[in-house]
Amino acid sequence: MTQTIGILTSGGDSPGLNAAIRGVGKACQSHGMRILGIRDGFRGLVENRTMDLEGGALSGILTVGGTILGTSREKPHKMLVDGKPRDMTDVIVANYRANGLDCLVCLGGGGTQKNALRLKQAGLNVVTLPKTIDNDVAKTDITFGFDTALGIATDAIDRLHSTAHSHHRVIVVEIMGHRAGWLALGAGIAGGADVILIPEIPYDVEVVAAAIKARSQGGKPFSIVAVAEGALSRQEFAAQQAASAKKKEKKPREIVAEPELVYAERTLRLAHQLEKLTGLEARVTILGHLQRGGTPSAADRLLATRLGTAAADLIRARQYGVMVAARGEATAPVTLEEVAGQAKTVPPEHPWVDSARGVGTSFGD
Ligand code: F6P
Repeated sequence: MTQTIGILTSGGDSPGLNAAIRGVGKACQSHGMRILGIRDGFRGLVENRTMDLEGGALSGILTVGGTILGTSREKPHKMLVDGKPRDMTDVIVANYRANGLDCLVCLGGGGTQKNALRLKQAGLNVVTLPKTIDNDVAKTDITFGFDTALGIATDAIDRLHSTAHSHHRVIVVEIMGHRAGWLALGAGIAGGADVILIPEIPYDVEVVAAAIKARSQGGKPFSIVAVAEGALSRQEFAAQQAASAKKKEKKPREIVAEPELVYAERTLRLAHQLEKLTGLEARVTILGHLQRGGTPSAADRLLATRLGTAAADLIRARQYGVMVAARGEATAPVTLEEVAGQAKTVPPEHPWVDSARGVGTSFGD
C-alpha cells in the first residue's frame, strides 16, 4: 500500500524551509511514497487546503527563500474561528484521515514541536524537523535557518562599522533570536562587535557605557553594540521576575505584551542611555525580518537536505513521534516528549561566550 505523507511548515518563515521540503519530498518519493503539501501551517489542515507536490513541484526550490507552502503561527488546540479561540484538533485528525495520510511531517521551531506532540497524543503519526533562525530548539545541535541568518547579521555588522568609525558613533544593532541569544552572540563574535547583549546575561548599562568609554579613551571613539531582541538590563530582568512571581505565571517571559514593539522600544531606549552616558552619538539599526530573507546558505541547504532525507528514512521504517535532530555529521530521532516545551538558550559559560570575552568583548556584566 503506497504511503501518503503530508508536509507542512509552521511558525516564522526561515531560509532552508524549501530545501527541507525538497529533501523530505524527493526522498519519500524515491521510496515510492506520495507527498501532499498542506498550506499555511496547521490552519491549512483545519481548512483542508492542500498543494500537490508530485511531478515537478519539488524542482527548483532548493535555493528559494521562505516556504512554497505558506506558513502561520496557528495552534491546533487554540485556533481563531469566528474570532474565538477553539480546539480544532478533532478537525485536523478528521482531515488527516480524509486525505489518507500515513504520516504528517511538520517543519518548525519550538512551538511547532509542542503542536506536533499534541497531534501525536491525538493519535496521528508525526515526524518533525527543527527549523528556526533562533537556534533555540532543544536536543538538536543546530536548526536550519540559523546559519543563513548568522551570515546576514554578520554582514550587517560588517557594514555598520563604516558609519561607526566615520562618525565616531555607537551603533546599536538589534538582532533577532526571540528569547535566546545564539544569533546575537554568533554574529557579534563573527562581526567583531565590541559589546554583545543577550537575554541569558542581564546587563548593566553603566558597565556597557564604561566599556565604550574605555575604547574611546584608548583611541577608538566608536563601538558596535550587538543586542539580542530579548536582552534585558538587570533592572528589567528583576522587574520581570518580580511581576511573574506576583502573577505566578508559568512562563515569566510570557507576560511581555507585544514583544515586537517592546523589543524596538528597549533598543531605542538603550541607545539613548548610551548616548547620554558616553557623550558619543548613537544610532540604531533593527535588522528584523531581513535575517529571515533570501536564499539559504550552503550550510543550511546541506543541513535541511540531511534532516529531510533522514525523516524519509524514519517514515519508511514507520518510526513516528520523533524530531530528526542534527548530531554532528549525523542525525538522530528524538521523541517529541523530550523536545516539546524545552528551549535551548545560551549557557553563560558557553565556549562562544568565553571566546568573545577572550578578545575583549563586553557582555555588560
Ligand atoms: O522565531 C523566529 C523569529 O524570527 C524570532 O527571532 C522573532 O522574534 C519572531 O520570529 C518574529 O515573529 P514574526 O515573524 O511573527 O514577527
